[in-house]
Amino acid sequence: MNELKSLKLGKLEIFPPILLAPLAGFTDSPFRRIVREFGAGLMSTEMISSVGIYYKDQKTISLANFDKSEHPIAAQIFGSFPDKLAYAASFLESKGFDVIDINIGCPTLKIIKSGSGGALLKDLDLIKEILTSVRKAIKIPLTIKARKGFKKDENILKELINMAEGEGVDAVTIHGITVEEGFLKSAEDWSSIKEVKKVSSIPIIANGGIEKEQDVKSLFETTFADGVMVGRSAINRPWFIKSSENYIQNGVGISLSLNEKLNIILRHIDLEVKEKGDYIGIREMRKFMQAYVTGMRGATHFRSKLNTVQSKDELIALLMGFFAIKEAI
Ligand SMILES: Cc1cc2nc3c(=O)[nH]c(=O)nc-3n(C[C@H](O)[C@H](O)[C@H](O)COP(=O)(O)O)c2cc1C
Repeated sequence: MNELKSLKLGKLEIFPPILLAPLAGFTDSPFRRIVREFGAGLMSTEMISSVGIYYKDQKTISLANFDKSEHPIAAQIFGSFPDKLAYAASFLESKGFDVIDINIGCPTLKIIKSGSGGALLKDLDLIKEILTSVRKAIKIPLTIKARKGFKKDENILKELINMAEGEGVDAVTIHGITVEEGFLKSAEDWSSIKEVKKVSSIPIIANGGIEKEQDVKSLFETTFADGVMVGRSAINRPWFIKSSENYIQNGVGISLSLNEKLNIILRHIDLEVKEKGDYIGIREMRKFMQAYVTGMRGATHFRSKLNTVQSKDELIALLMGFFAIKEAI
């Protein structure tokens, strides 16, 4: 395989069909803008509480801020009350999002306890009710992002896809792992995605376990999915989606010089601080910086210094020092 085809979500055409996964705490607007500057198909907000939107909680609503350069962009919502999910979907449609995605897979205890995310996989009737009411509330494409099942070894994908087709869902993203298996790498089951792709009449987006550009290609080839969604591998490499597209189409990924990487990080700091101010922006940047230096010599020392940094200037000074040493080696 060396040619990529657009992914169709209703009337929306997504190219490349390589999508940025919703990642709570990471896929905020500044990060998404960096990813989009390289090139990515659809991007997504992190999961947004439908209850928070319903009760007009300002912190929740701020998660739905985005810049026009981020189109096409999906808003992902979570919850368990069909009416509140429908309200949130309609609210987010009116804010200009291109797609509404419903979270049916989050394994976090707090989310599961509230009956949302992955807990929904225990109640297909409730999922059906949710899909009916959200579909009625919006005109833009509706997608769901689900795991294989709740309990270890459970696979309810056929029933789920069948229902999604009947309820007018435009595509299903599948993370081929159960909720109980959490993020256990060895439990990633790409064949479960392949099996359901064979019988699905709506697009399937495959997700889970990608570490290298080659893995994106393999996931397409193994599952015959219409799209691939990338999560953790994009956190320290916002160019990873573009690099994977290049790898599939031309056989080589993107290779960046130290200076190019430094400039990306500086731009990221700038966007984050502009959006959130010095105090929060710097704290947000700490976790990205931890990721950016992954695999680099001196990363442990750099990380230990990160938590002492209080201002944008201090952060930039630390970063410049770290990269200057690298240049000299
Ligand atoms: C830190 C973190 C936050 C996540 N947040 C979300 C989220 O908000 N919504 C969601 O559907 N999945 C979320 N996920 C799951 C990812 O979207 C994705 O399905 C999973 O990481 C597998 O893809 P990957 O192996 O490419 O990372 C999160 C995962 C991680 C590690």
